[in-house]
Amino acid sequence: MCGIVGYIGSKNAYSILIKGLHRLEYRGYDSAGIALINSQNNLNIYKAKGRVSDLEEFSQGKDISGTIGIAHTRWATHGEPSHINAHPHYSQSENLALIHNGIIENYAILKESLKQKGYIFQSETDTEVLVQLIEYIKTINNTDISTAVQLALKQVIGAYSIAVIEKENPDLIIAARKSSPLVVGIGENEFFLASDASPIIEYTNKVIYLDDEEIAVIHRNEPLRIVNLNNVEKTPQITQLELSLNELEKGGYSHFMLKEIFEQPRTLRDCMSGRVNVDSNNVVLSGIIDNKEKFINARRIIILACGTSWHAGLIGEYLFEEFCRIPVEVEYSSEFRYRHPVINPDDVIIAISQSGETADTLAAIELAKQAGAFVYGICNVVGSSIPRNTDSGSYTHVGPEIGVASTKAFTAQVAVLVMMALNIAREKKTISEEQFLSVLSELSKIPSKIETILQQNNYIEDLSKIFTYAHNFIYLGRGYSYPVAIEGALKLKEISYIHAEGYPAAEMKHGPIALIDNEMPVVVIATNSTTYDKTISNIQEIKARNGRILAIVNKSDYKVKEMADYTIEIPDTEECLSPLLSIVPLQLLSYHIAVKKGRDVDMPRNLAKSVTVE
Ligand code: G6P
Repeated sequence: MCGIVGYIGSKNAYSILIKGLHRLEYRGYDSAGIALINSQNNLNIYKAKGRVSDLEEFSQGKDISGTIGIAHTRWATHGEPSHINAHPHYSQSENLALIHNGIIENYAILKESLKQKGYIFQSETDTEVLVQLIEYIKTINNTDISTAVQLALKQVIGAYSIAVIEKENPDLIIAARKSSPLVVGIGENEFFLASDASPIIEYTNKVIYLDDEEIAVIHRNEPLRIVNLNNVEKTPQITQLELSLNELEKGGYSHFMLKEIFEQPRTLRDCMSGRVNVDSNNVVLSGIIDNKEKFINARRIIILACGTSWHAGLIGEYLFEEFCRIPVEVEYSSEFRYRHPVINPDDVIIAISQSGETADTLAAIELAKQAGAFVYGICNVVGSSIPRNTDSGSYTHVGPEIGVASTKAFTAQVAVLVMMALNIAREKKTISEEQFLSVLSELSKIPSKIETILQQNNYIEDLSKIFTYAHNFIYLGRGYSYPVAIEGALKLKEISYIHAEGYPAAEMKHGPIALIDNEMPVVVIATNSTTYDKTISNIQEIKARNGRILAIVNKSDYKVKEMADYTIEIPDTEECLSPLLSIVPLQLLSYHIAVKKGRDVDMPRNLAKSVTVE
């Protein structure tokens, strides 16, 4: 969601900035823009609605020179996607240009007061209010840009990461953040700025992650300075990036999503590496061992997440209740944060987030921390805000996930939850040794079992042709397969724009059954489980109403295979691990249907990879 890139050094800024914007495209956006100061100290801004390629086309033949610049991809919040609302925004004198991610909540009051002082606004954005405010403060206080930014941000309520450049000061970028990510890259006599490390990695692996209410004063040919809103100097903490450029490229696949689906055997091996040890019959997560007492004595676990991560959380609920006998609640972060939840100091909070930047989850964590609860994070992006704001946690270690529809992050989140549940259950002695060993041994086989599912890619592609016509889908599952049903439905709607709903199979009778006719495809996850026979009854009910059934079944199945119109086989495994297998054909099915429908699979309309505003 919105992307920031900045550059100051001796190279041509335009090409670095445009490449950086392309790297951030996966975050989701609807317009793009760039501001450059050329050698005559002209501050040029070019913007375009649509893709970064539209911006490149628009900039053709224009002055794109300059060794300092800032660039932005916008995901509309205040004001429709348009040329005028796209960033960067000029201040009234056109002396300043600013880009912004986040939301300025008190923008209306600030705007009204600036209007009364004679400021005229071109756009509907909250961002333009901020750049005008900075200019106003700079003028009336006769101060420098850095101080003006500090003073302006003190008046702002909301979330921001910003970058500002000033026409009269072509050697300086000012950047700041609060509740929205910002990374500064340190090169040889040059600096980079970005919303995440992906635009920076090809130039340097030395980065500084800004913290809330920190301002980076990035001066050409001078060491980087970090100050807070009160101008107190902070020592920059340099982090070494471990990202590789290959991870940010498609590597021969037609889409990042397909690449990421196919990466899952490897990403799950990476995720389990050093944690699952079949030879010594052990699973150890350092975050659990370090905080053993918290988990053993937890009165309750509350899982906080959004989107796909929330679906992984639901699987966590089944796991912790079954193996650890700890009551679990799974909450949408956005609901939890506003409904006066009861949080006890002996509750353990588990926040799950691929990006580690989801605004609602961050706010929900803050609330839990204030109530004294212990907060554990399960995140993918190393160094992101959630791992930095939790007491402890486990990374999923799947590398960058670029496709907006989450795939490899989901399976790794589930794998981490399985490892956590096993680790805690053994410490708590709530799992029999036999069951522990059986789940552990099966867990280690999951990557190779996914490999056999991926071999059916061509078959699933053929199947997808049958369903491309559909306008609606129902997904059903019970027990551990229920979260898979809703995740499968989410995958389909996100990228194909086909309406799809997931339900616990038994709930079908309470409403959705009314929708079933011979045009309604029903995907049933009918793998081996304690409720297998009950699922069969649900399949009969659908058949009796002429619904078309695509069933995900185990290799050893013979009953459902006879009833379903179409089946996809997955290897047998422990019930609690079945989501790690059954989701894979559903990811492929959604992918192929979306491709057949000509959708923009990696960047579906209106969606953002990282939702940094609430
Ligand atoms: C967005 C993404 C989803 C993701 C959700 C939560 O909606 O498009 O793929 O599941 O945010 O994101 P998080 O980074 O917190 O897992």
